[in-house]
Amino acid sequence: MRIVSGIQPTGNLHLGNYLGAIRNWVRMQDDLEPGSECLFFLADLHAISMPHSPAELRRATLEMVAALVACGIDPNRSVLFNQAQVPAHAELQWLLNGTARMGWLNRMTQFKDKSGKNREGASVALFTYPVLQAADVLLYQATHVPVGEDQKQHLELARDIAQKFNNDFCSEDAPVFTLPEAFIPPAAARIMSLRDGTKKMSKSDPSEMSRIELADDADTIMKKIKKAKTDPEPLPSEMAGLEGRPEALNLVSIYAVLTDEKPEAVLARFAGQGFGVFKPALGEVLVETLSPISQRFRELVEDREALDAILAKGALRAREIGIPTLDATYNALGL
Ligand code: ADP
Ligand code: NA
Repeated sequence: MRIVSGIQPTGNLHLGNYLGAIRNWVRMQDDLEPGSECLFFLADLHAISMPHSPAELRRATLEMVAALVACGIDPNRSVLFNQAQVPAHAELQWLLNGTARMGWLNRMTQFKDKSGKNREGASVALFTYPVLQAADVLLYQATHVPVGEDQKQHLELARDIAQKFNNDFCSEDAPVFTLPEAFIPPAAARIMSLRDGTKKMSKSDPSEMSRIELADDADTIMKKIKKAKTDPEPLPSEMAGLEGRPEALNLVSIYAVLTDEKPEAVLARFAGQGFGVFKPALGEVLVETLSPISQRFRELVEDREALDAILAKGALRAREIGIPTLDATYNALGL
């Protein structure tokens, strides 16, 4: 198995990013069979498809690497890199632009969502970035690509491009591209704001009290949990009792995700208790899980040299794996 997965570099990382995205990568890496390999990349080339600040992108890329390593991605076991340092991504995208059809891209629902009403003002990159996504995985002969519901269409596109390219330019016994399979990662947790249980925990929420950040120390975590919005009711013994209580549901869910239990099991233990008991228990579990991560994160994020070295090493290995496919693509096209 060769798994390839990308993540947008984003700064001010929080508990939602960790439990909803990063932890899944760490598990993928840790559960891998011998002989299999994971390539994890920061999708910094994708970031320029939307309005962005260069300084912010640079900072977010480094912060994300620090976070990934702090959370358990091991750069000696997984290939960890950013697209921009592996020019083959952009090159292969151009080569595949000859195979991708306008009609295929026109059907991509994400472009419609992200460009909104301002279709004419959207960047060309936003329109063609599914082709870059295809290049991202085809370059490495990925066998498996973890995709959430919203990315299924893009993986189908990558398979269509690979298939058409193999058909048009390769002999049957020597296709250039492997058709990657989707695999649906274990359901990612969705963490809600500590101030409003109906909103996603997000870095764009103006209130810092709404989220636990990866860099928060133990005191800050305890304070934020203590101040988290709740209701006056004690915890019920069954999930049905959390209906209409989004804040309570969120705190119970966070506890369950952290301890790898079902929320039912958490309720069974805390049924009848108020938040005066539950919040300190949750705070403790959070501190226990996040302390080692945030300590490592704070050290790493200050160590520019270490971060650069990690990315350079990852890019070198990614190039080694990708170049033969890139060469074969040029060759098949008569270039
Ligand atoms: P934010 O919403 O803070 O801007 P991003 O959109 O940059 O975060 O998300 C980066 C990754 O983290 C994505 O894979 C996204 O699905 C995940 N993620 C972000 N917020 C949450 C959340 N509250 N719960 C679960 N996953 C989240
Ligand atoms: Na977001």
